[in-house]
Amino acid sequence: MKFIVKESKEEVAVAAADLVEKVIRRDPACVLGLATGSSPVGMYQELARRCKDGDLDFSAVTTVNLDEYIGLNAEHDQSYHYFMKENFFSHINIDMEKTHVPEGDAEDAEEEAQRYEKLLKSLEPCAVQLLGIGINGHIGFNEPGDDFKLETHVTSLTKETITSNARFFDSIEEVPNLAITMGMGSILRARRIILIALGESKQAAVKALEDALITPKVPATILKVHPDLTVICDREAAGLLDRKNIISDPS
Ligand code: GLP
Repeated sequence: MKFIVKESKEEVAVAAADLVEKVIRRDPACVLGLATGSSPVGMYQELARRCKDGDLDFSAVTTVNLDEYIGLNAEHDQSYHYFMKENFFSHINIDMEKTHVPEGDAEDAEEEAQRYEKLLKSLEPCAVQLLGIGINGHIGFNEPGDDFKLETHVTSLTKETITSNARFFDSIEEVPNLAITMGMGSILRARRIILIALGESKQAAVKALEDALITPKVPATILKVHPDLTVICDREAAGLLDRKNIISDPS
């Protein structure tokens, strides 16, 4: 595992975009695993700028997203379908047929989770899986619990997550209680994982990645078994890290 610490969120965005660009240049028809939340937004903007400038081509890329709220349709402005269109897909030359997000308004959410898992298994492993991290250490919507769920599943959101994500909704009552999320097994199948963490509220979750313990109480800790995990954070998120574990070159 590598910890890369940058001075600002803008520098984090550029460092993460550089890594993703390398992956696409190596394999223009790769599968990218994508995340929502505020952490990857700067990186999406940077990648979109490079695409507009003609430096990066997404036309052959396939994408799979981590998760979606249950009960929100693709047009809802807090759905992750909408988020991805607004923040990324509508700014790059991607074929929308090759983008995949679990359907939050499927009639049967359990069936939808199974369909999504099958889809993931039918594709090449992600060349890179991008991740944010919840303040409680959740990944996608893999919430703290007694075990790690390996496959795509329906999950209840913790109070902490609902409270934290209420910042995106008009009121906390509007935040869905349920979501469909890729499991940790699907995430670990990626060839490379890049996790972005910004701000002081992520300090404890980032520190848990540095500590030896792997526990489902902090789901992100299982990422430590992955042979190619890069954590890119700003100074604030890295506040509790041991300086000797930090590198600055993201290659
Ligand atoms: C949501 C998403 C996660 C994301 C997390 C952190 O809960 N399901 O994938 O990592 O938010 O979001 P932010 O980056 O806005 O702090």
